[in-house]
Amino acid sequence: MPAVVLVGAQWGDEGKGKATDLLGSRVDYVVKFNGGNNAGHTVVIGDEKYALHLLPSGILSPGVIPVIGNGVVVDIEVLFQELEMLSSRGVDVSKLLVSSQAHVIASFHRTLDKVTERFLGQRRIGTTGRGIGPSYADKINRVGIRIADLFDPKILRAKIEGSLDQKNHLLVKVYNRRAVEVDAVLEELLAYADRLRPMVANTPLVLNNALDEGKTLLFEAGQATMLDIDHGTYPFVTSSSATAGGAVIGSGIGPTRIDSVIGVIKAYTTRVGEGPFPTELFDETGVYLQTKGGEVGVTTGRARRCGWYDAVIARYASRINGLTDLVVTKLDVLTGLEKIPVCVAYNVDGQRFDEMPDNQSDFHHAVPIYDELPGWEEDISAARTLADLPANARSYMQFLEDISGCRISAIGVGPARNEIIPIHNLLS
Ligand code: GDP
Ligand code: IMO
Ligand code: MG
Repeated sequence: MPAVVLVGAQWGDEGKGKATDLLGSRVDYVVKFNGGNNAGHTVVIGDEKYALHLLPSGILSPGVIPVIGNGVVVDIEVLFQELEMLSSRGVDVSKLLVSSQAHVIASFHRTLDKVTERFLGQRRIGTTGRGIGPSYADKINRVGIRIADLFDPKILRAKIEGSLDQKNHLLVKVYNRRAVEVDAVLEELLAYADRLRPMVANTPLVLNNALDEGKTLLFEAGQATMLDIDHGTYPFVTSSSATAGGAVIGSGIGPTRIDSVIGVIKAYTTRVGEGPFPTELFDETGVYLQTKGGEVGVTTGRARRCGWYDAVIARYASRINGLTDLVVTKLDVLTGLEKIPVCVAYNVDGQRFDEMPDNQSDFHHAVPIYDELPGWEEDISAARTLADLPANARSYMQFLEDISGCRISAIGVGPARNEIIPIHNLLS
């Protein structure tokens, strides 16, 4: 099975990093195709814990060629910080490839991200402040700076001038800030050009050639389905295509080359930042899930909002991504609860919705309709087969599979690499 896409099925932080790491020993390339250093992926290998933001999690697997695809926005300073952090811990980072067509995040994008959020006030998105939205906005406005531009100072200067032209008016006249100097940005970006050059490649060509040679490629999404710019809870989303289709656009391979799509989903739900979240808990059970699940953002350190599993979202993610497999993570966090509610549909002003409402306001007013399942007391972290799970945990998983629109192929029972129950082979 040569081309496999791995996406988040909820609002991010489902455990994509761990799932990628699990497959790492069996794939040749791991490709990041969207987002930037707004992501925060945790990978636990033995006693070592790694937090990755910009680099694909596959960089931790020896033998894998990690690729930053054309759909990514790259903060070059962060790229080198992360590479140095990994090198100092003994990770081989020499094989990394960066697309020449990926867009750059400069310091003025970070500035704009922060001032825009402040300006939005009540309507703020709760972004990570990493300059993601402003960099993608430049890409769509056709005033972006691409990695390839760094290797021609004349072109780079012209691109920076073009990008800053309108922004400086905005910064000075609307946001009451100082104008950004072209020379300062030029210096900031050129500082890394020589170090970056050997990593830069025509990644669409490299990846298509690899597929032709029968290599196995894993496309690892940042963010998740409900944060996708088209299919998420707009406007409370990120600015890229985090769904499976994004793997095609963001890496330059054709849709006919994708063989399977794995969705990673938590056994409950979390969300960071603003925006609607029907099953959110505001009581002590929410705090319990937050504490027991260690639900703190890897990138910004913000406490994640917590709630019950939402099958309407699971079915939506299955459909939008064409999921072939689900990896359910963090089942262990639910241990000790007497009853576990699962949202099976929504009630919107007296009308039942079994599928995601098409209208944004309906989703904002959705009240979950719950089925309650019995919980279990036994520690499940040592379970390695379905038979090792208590009967109620097995029933909970069976119930999720029956209502989520996709088969469950693995279950996470702890953060470590081996804390997993494999059910179906994810690469066959
Ligand atoms: P990502 O952004 O999707 O890669 O996920 P994050 O790394 O932001 O958040 C997932 C968190 O859950 C990390 O701290 C993981 O170590 C942890 N994790 C992943 N799978 C499991 C699991 O099955 N059980 C538990 N208890 N933790 C898990
Ligand atoms: P991983 O890959 C969870 C959220 C932010 C904010 C919104 C827009 O670890 O799952 P942005 O900075 O992207 O413009 O912020 O998206 N967000 C994430 N939430 N996990 C992530 O990544 C996220 N990346 C962005 O909190 O609500
Ligand atoms: Mg994360």
